[in-house]
Amino acid sequence: MYELSTLHAAFEQYFGQPPTRIARAPGRVNLIGEHTDYNDGFVFPMALDRATYVAARPRNDQIVRMFSIKFREEDQFDLQQIVRDERRQWVNYIRGVAKGLLARDLPLRGADLMIDSDVPAGSGLSSSAALEVAVGYTFQLLNNINLLGEELALVAQGAEHTFVGVKCGIMDQLIAALGEAGHALLIDCRDLSYRPVPIPAEARVVVCDSGVRHRLAGSEYNQRRAGCEEAVRLLKPALGKIQALRDVRSSDLATYGHLLPPDVLPLARHVVSENERTLAAAEALAAGDLVKMGRLMVASHVSLRDDYRVSVRELDTLVDLALAAPGCFGSRMTGGGFGGSTVSLVATDHVDAFVAAMVDGYAIRTGRKLQPLVCTAGAGVSCVYASEEE
Ligand code: GLA
Repeated sequence: MYELSTLHAAFEQYFGQPPTRIARAPGRVNLIGEHTDYNDGFVFPMALDRATYVAARPRNDQIVRMFSIKFREEDQFDLQQIVRDERRQWVNYIRGVAKGLLARDLPLRGADLMIDSDVPAGSGLSSSAALEVAVGYTFQLLNNINLLGEELALVAQGAEHTFVGVKCGIMDQLIAALGEAGHALLIDCRDLSYRPVPIPAEARVVVCDSGVRHRLAGSEYNQRRAGCEEAVRLLKPALGKIQALRDVRSSDLATYGHLLPPDVLPLARHVVSENERTLAAAEALAAGDLVKMGRLMVASHVSLRDDYRVSVRELDTLVDLALAAPGCFGSRMTGGGFGGSTVSLVATDHVDAFVAAMVDGYAIRTGRKLQPLVCTAGAGVSCVYASEEE
């Protein structure tokens, strides 16, 4: 459990006055539906019970001063003139969100912010979306702004596009804003509608961080996205009114796949089949069919590995180990890929044995230490502390 009182005390010591609000936004793990969000498709993530916390106090000027406990670093900027920092990435998430709110004609006052998180960074659990959404919500609280969770998610995504340079989809920010305790959300990334599906008590979601993170992940991601857009452009003359790969069926690809170059066809095949799998998986989980859900997760991994080509050896090893470990229904890489984590669906009464087998197996196969997280689905962004003073 994260200790709010420690953050409260650290804020007061650093800024000389106590915070008036503390907001939290969770990291996420995606059960299935990978690289589908920016194709207007379906995703099925759950929010984690780990989060980024922002303690805050309004100021009477236009300065935002912030301190990151993780980076042990301070930053300061003026709301009148927000620019990208070329040296430090973490500050850009906050600057980008502030700029996005101002661009929507939402006036902001200055603020002192202290940031902390128990979402492991660089594990593919969206610690950055958690930061964006927590900061955006903090500005809402300090300035009495009412935004729907969907709008807050769009502001946060915009910050990532313009200030961080990754053309990410909406999944991470949306689940950080709208997650529901005990549930995964089946999200339609075209109209942002969603359906909560309870995680059955007989299963646990286990996340294993490979410990690998490739530097090129951002540029590889943007390339995959461009490939999907090219596929739509090339299929349009044959298929008519398609706007995104969301509108393409597997049967369409069987007929018109020859219109796509050899490096683009597998990308389209992944996205189209992944959308179909994601809808089927949400049905399976809702019906308590864990075996079917697990099979779909494995098929998703194979498609990400062979067609979308975003897996790495360590992720494949983790999936192999999981499928051989006790109680595992299914396992796959989760998130953007090129390192990060796997997600496994495990029978509740086998979780301890599963975790032990994973730790041993990964040490033997790679020499790396694994620290699996047994996750519970947490809630989306919220205010967790409000003082009496305004
Ligand atoms: C990253 C992006 C998401 C999504 C996933 C892949 O996490 O931020 O928008 O595209 O990769 O599913």
